[in-house]
Amino acid sequence: MKQLLFFSNNKNKIIEIKKIFNKFDLELLSLNDLNISEEPEESGHTFEENAKIKSEHGYNKTGIPCFADDSGICIESLNWKPGVFSKRFLNNFKNKELCFKNILKSVKNSGKQNAYFKTSISLTINKNQNIIFNGKIYGKISEKIKGDFGFGYDPIFIPKNYNKTLAELSTKYKNEISHRSIAVNKLINFLSN
Ligand code: IMP
Repeated sequence: MKQLLFFSNNKNKIIEIKKIFNKFDLELLSLNDLNISEEPEESGHTFEENAKIKSEHGYNKTGIPCFADDSGICIESLNWKPGVFSKRFLNNFKNKELCFKNILKSVKNSGKQNAYFKTSISLTINKNQNIIFNGKIYGKISEKIKGDFGFGYDPIFIPKNYNKTLAELSTKYKNEISHRSIAVNKLINFLSN
């Protein structure tokens, strides 16, 4: 059976990805399975660059074809930031609520509501052989912080053509429409052809 490495230490992501890959005749490994704990610095300026840094690192360390993802939110009222700094931006505040209030204020002051989530997946199948799969979900920043499901910025993001935040939608439903699932489906299409 062929092996494929998912370069992540995030337990939730690993469970989700392993479920998706169950139907394939592939042995899907994560960093934990190989006792790899150290990760390279995500020094890229784009989601694509950061995903590639990780998938190349995984391939170079193990010789196993490897994929990695990088995601975040881009907000119009913040000049389309925080982008690749999404995690760090949130962690810079004392708590999530303060961060969200700061974003809601910038939307109110600027009148700019648009936002999108993006995921880039990089698959390294050989030395210098790299393929990128992108997924995006467009929407707007909500007027209020709403919902308990999900994680990260879900409580302030309303997908286009919806009137609920991602945190008000069930995890199962969110996973069907999310930026991550769009990128993962592109990867799966590639692997099955
Ligand atoms: P990661 O690269 O997937 O770990 O995402 C980096 C950061 O972007 C996370 O820590 C979240 O703050 C944010 N983020 C990424 N995807 C989502 C999502 O689906 N919902 C909410 N926040 C997200």
